[in-house]
Amino acid sequence: MSIPVTYSLMRYLAAKKSVDERALNCQVWKRLLAALPRATPQEPLRILEVGAGIGSMVERLVAGDVLTHATYTAIDRAPALLAEAHRRLCRWARERGFEVNENRQGQLHVWQAGQHITIETEAIDVGHFMAREHGRRVWDLLIGQAFLDLIDIPTTLPGHCSLVHPGGLLYFPTTFDGGTVFQPESDTEFDKALEACYHRAIDERVLDGKPSGDSRAGRRLLAYLQTAAVEVLAAGGSDWVIFAGADGYPANEAYFLHDIIHTIGLVLTGHPHLDAERLGAWVAQRHAQIEQGALVYIAHQLDVLGRMTAPMGKEQDGKP
Ligand SMILES: C[S@@+](CC[C@H](N)C(=O)[O-])C[C@H]1O[C@@H](n2cnc3c(N)ncnc32)[C@H](O)[C@@H]1O
Repeated sequence: MSIPVTYSLMRYLAAKKSVDERALNCQVWKRLLAALPRATPQEPLRILEVGAGIGSMVERLVAGDVLTHATYTAIDRAPALLAEAHRRLCRWARERGFEVNENRQGQLHVWQAGQHITIETEAIDVGHFMAREHGRRVWDLLIGQAFLDLIDIPTTLPGHCSLVHPGGLLYFPTTFDGGTVFQPESDTEFDKALEACYHRAIDERVLDGKPSGDSRAGRRLLAYLQTAAVEVLAAGGSDWVIFAGADGYPANEAYFLHDIIHTIGLVLTGHPHLDAERLGAWVAQRHAQIEQGALVYIAHQLDVLGRMTAPMGKEQDGKP
């Protein structure tokens, strides 16, 4: 594809889906499925997804027949992404033979024989949501995909944990872990400097006056979880690896790559340790390599699954 004229997070998240399908760690996924409590129509599984974007994880869970009876609360601070999630989920479920119905509160009901999923979405900042729900509701499973590297884990993880009951699960797939690799190498020194500056920019990001990013979130998460009384059940690599085969890049992954290069260019423009002309040439060269099917991109990430430890004397896998 030629270099896009415009970019959007919505298009990026849609293009990311096939990249994630390859990347998700199967062992961690299987451990998640094995640890999920049995759901019934009377006691559906309660799932909360933070930073849910366009709803890719709901589709993945429903498609994998993982969910039989569930209520799925998907929150994100971007209303446009949740509106897209709603639209995509309706179409996706109907195409697969599910009945789909929307009630007055805007909840989606998706069902077929032996499966009934209720999906509610809310556009809200995760911090506000946690503060509002603390002590009111708890969930069996909290999911945050490609999310924890965007927030300040030490200050927000306890809030996440407070929304999961003892014995409940926390699943954090594709959490960035400090590796950004582009091939072919052209100027190794510049590539190294660019990677270091990019990761530092992630670490120094401030949103709404709060620290909002950690380029080594994946590895640090393991210790943070233990501090928050979460037992780590499984962890493993979920690196994105994108390359062009004989038919070019799969699905919409050429767009995904253009978006990544565009974003890195934006983040590093004006960086005091990078020569502006050299950065401009690097960005142009990487876009050209995508057009030629020559660019390989690898991002190192981790999938982590944890379980809230039960208070003394309680079973770990039951509902509260
Ligand atoms: C990298 S995207 C991942 C989306 C989705 N989990 C996926 O993997 O496809 C991060 C998402 O988190 C949302 N987000 C970032 N900060 C947030 C916050 N403080 N509260 C709620 N959502 C947030 C963004 O709007 C975006 O949709």
